[in-house]
Amino acid sequence: MAFPVSAACWVVLAAAVALGYVQRHSQQESHVHYAQLGTDVTLQCGSVDPEATVTWTANTTDLDASHLNGSRLVLHNVDLSQSGQYSCYEGTSWHLKYRVNLKVGTPPKEPVLMCRSNNYPNGFYCSWHLPSPTYMNDTYDITIIHDSKEIACKKDIPAKNRCYIQYHQVFSSKKYRVTLTATNPLGSSSTTISFDEFSIVKPDPPESVVAKPIAHNPRRLQVTWQYPSSWPDPDSFPLKFFLRYRPLIIDQWQHVELSDGTSHIITDAYAGKEYIIQVAAKDNEIGTWSDWSVAVHATPWTEEPKHLTTEAQGTETTTASTSAFMVAPTARPSDPDDAGNNASVALSLVVSLVLVLFSIHFI
Ligand SMILES: *[C@@H]1O[C@H](CO)[C@@H](O)[C@H](O)[C@H]1NC(C)=O
Ligand SMILES: *[C@@H]1O[C@H](CO)[C@@H](O)[C@H](O)[C@H]1NC(C)=O
Ligand SMILES: *[C@@H]1O[C@H](CO)[C@@H](O)[C@H](O)[C@H]1NC(C)=O
Ligand SMILES: *[C@@H]1O[C@H](CO)[C@@H](O)[C@H](O)[C@H]1NC(C)=O
Repeated sequence: MAFPVSAACWVVLAAAVALGYVQRHSQQESHVHYAQLGTDVTLQCGSVDPEATVTWTANTTDLDASHLNGSRLVLHNVDLSQSGQYSCYEGTSWHLKYRVNLKVGTPPKEPVLMCRSNNYPNGFYCSWHLPSPTYMNDTYDITIIHDSKEIACKKDIPAKNRCYIQYHQVFSSKKYRVTLTATNPLGSSSTTISFDEFSIVKPDPPESVVAKPIAHNPRRLQVTWQYPSSWPDPDSFPLKFFLRYRPLIIDQWQHVELSDGTSHIITDAYAGKEYIIQVAAKDNEIGTWSDWSVAVHATPWTEEPKHLTTEAQGTETTTASTSAFMVAPTARPSDPDDAGNNASVALSLVVSLVLVLFSIHFI
């Protein structure tokens, strides 16, 4: 019986030695020194005597002795490019004594935190970012208190700087208090905001905005849109809308607020001018206006000589064209491949400019 026991002892001993080696090895590999950008950094050569003669390398490049104080490496006013692997070798034997990863960065500044409900009354989300990069791995901790109870914020997997809160009760008069703490190896920083349920309601912009000319109405444009698809209950929580429009060549918006419905007819458009149109939405009672919808373009119907109508159709509907002059339908050349094209484009440009100056003069 004695033999197997001693064999087992050997196995255990060998395993212990191997484990010890692995541990020492990984300890050596895992030295990390974090340093704040712009500070002076002193790296010790492990437990080597401070007066010993050593050589330091940065990413395998030798560093000259001007950086040394005894066996210590001194780096003044470190910048990002000085991150890297630093190794220290004993003078004569070139025996590796110590290796450390220097990571230069900054502690996080106060994070920017925002909470918003775009699907009232289902819930709200909070999102955040740092005002400046830290060049480090930052971690975030969020705490949400409502009615002196902590509520969970579910992380969106793909966007890690965002989480979602489901309302347990609506129409609560108690404030929500949200604290976000950003942490990295150089420090941490927090932001706290507090708000009531109604103030953070902000729908997404209206969708499927379409603007069209109305045949035989040179000053009208028909605009239609849809509720944002994220808005869950339009019947119980109707939205109102805000429309803004302007000719591309004039930098001043006209506005209309609409308490209901999802269409509007603009009746005061300038004949023949291409318009840019956007719509925003807001809950009838609470919260703030959405961002503007994606801009759509349209030009009122114009009476044009017969041979032009087929060609002009493409530009009359909601194209995404951004040029004011190319689509000015009154001055549109009859054939874009015609040799006179550049001359007539230039002419239409001059005509449009004169028109603008003329209208500015009379405002
Ligand atoms: C070297 O390091 C010692 C101990 O930190 C310090 O007192 C001394 O001023 C340093 N010398 C130089 C030249 O920086
Ligand atoms: C070390 O190498 C890394 C990665 O290539 C580089 O970003 C860094 O600037 C280097 N550090 C030094 C001190 O050369
Ligand atoms: C951040 O973490 C990843 C994975 O944990 C690591 O590969 C990377 O080097 C880290 N970056 C910094 C700057 O510490
Ligand atoms: C208009 O001018 C541009 C450059 O000035 C030239 O490349 C183009 O061929 C001209 N088009 C016509 C139709 O003359």
